[in-house]
Amino acid sequence: MKKQLLLGSMALGMISILGTSCAKETTTYDDVKSIIDAKCATCHSGSTPAAGRDYTTYAGLKPVLTDATLFTKQVLDDKTMPKNGSLTSDEINKITAWKDNGYAE
Ligand code: HEC
Repeated sequence: MKKQLLLGSMALGMISILGTSCAKETTTYDDVKSIIDAKCATCHSGSTPAAGRDYTTYAGLKPVLTDATLFTKQVLDDKTMPKNGSLTSDEINKITAWKDNGYAE
């Protein structure tokens, strides 16, 4: 009986540890891909994107991420992108978290 109680509380302990570690600590391209698809892909995708680059792959986006005057400036600082649109504060927070993680793939 005592053993069962001990096992039971250990199991509960495990569940609470698992519960907290489920919260993602790092934001990667996968986490923002849905925002890119929804808010940028109309102009920034396909073989001949209107804006010249395909951002729906990490490889296509990478050149503008490493240049501080492009992605960071236009999307987070000046908010000139998305052109003719806007991002919700939730989306901006997600992209900011991605930036803080070094725009990891
Ligand atoms: C309505 C079309 C449209 C949408 C939607 C759009 N863009 Fe753009 N984007 C453009 C065009 C066109 C340019 C070229 C420069 C200009 O005309 O301002 C551009 C340029 C850029 C640039 C500068 C890079 C370069 O090569 O000049 C970045 C970075 C960028 N867009 C990011 C984004 C992101 C991120 C999103 C989504 C959050 C987005 N854009 C949504 C049309 C769009």
